[in-house]
Amino acid sequence: MALAIAVGLLLASGTAAADRVPLPALVKAHRGEACVEPLPVIRRDHMKFLMHQRDDTVHEGIRGARHSLVGCIDCHAAKDDAGRWVRIDAPGQFCASCHEYVSVTIDCFGCHAALPTVAFRKTAE
Ligand code: HEC
Ligand code: HEC
Ligand code: HEC
Repeated sequence: MALAIAVGLLLASGTAAADRVPLPALVKAHRGEACVEPLPVIRRDHMKFLMHQRDDTVHEGIRGARHSLVGCIDCHAAKDDAGRWVRIDAPGQFCASCHEYVSVTIDCFGCHAALPTVAFRKTAE
């Protein structure tokens, strides 16, 4: 009897967990109070914003705007224990951890820098 109840509880909690797919532990943004969009919006639609921003920049020359890819990296990149910047597409880093989880591959960083702009400056931040 006790076993039957325990199994019942396990199944019930298993179902509850399946309703809400857990996210991988994400690296915290190292700067910025908030994202460029509310969290449910940026989680769902960031790819659309990025594509739109790309079209604005490449076709119309608009730069430094709200959904800049450079901006994402400037806030979301992280340093390793030795204080060196880590590529944002490296395993476990911000963009990569979620994408590995959902099996999405992006080719953006073949052309775009995967390190924040401060990493390319002579003086440390
Ligand atoms: C073949 C090279 C290449 C690849 C691959 C590429 N881009 Fe770009 N992208 C460019 C170039 C060149 C520009 C223009 C850079 C500029 O003028 O600032 C650009 C500009 C952008 C911009 C506007 C500038 C900015 O930082 O906001 C965004 C956004 C962008 N790309 C997003 C992406 C995303 C997202 C991907 C992957 C899905 C991607 N790009 C893949 C070459 C590439
Ligand atoms: C001004 C800094 C800043 C910029 C620019 C920025 N973000 Fe954010 N973003 C944050 C902060 C702060 C959070 C809240 C979570 C945290 O602290 O890491 C966040 C959260 C997110 C989340 C949700 C993570 C989660 O917990 O599920 C995604 C996805 C995201 N950002 C993607 C992007 C993308 C893509 C861009 C570029 C278009 C971008 N962000 C630009 C600061 C920024
Ligand atoms: C909270 C989880 C999460 C984070 C963090 C995240 N992504 Fe995504 N991303 C996704 C999901 C989920 C998809 C697939 C959505 C779909 O297929 O409809 C996706 C898709 C994309 C795509 C479109 C890929 C394609 O071929 O369709 C691009 C581009 C992208 N993400 C860029 C980024 C960049 C750049 C970062 C880091 C600044 C980032 N993402 C961080 C969850 C995330």
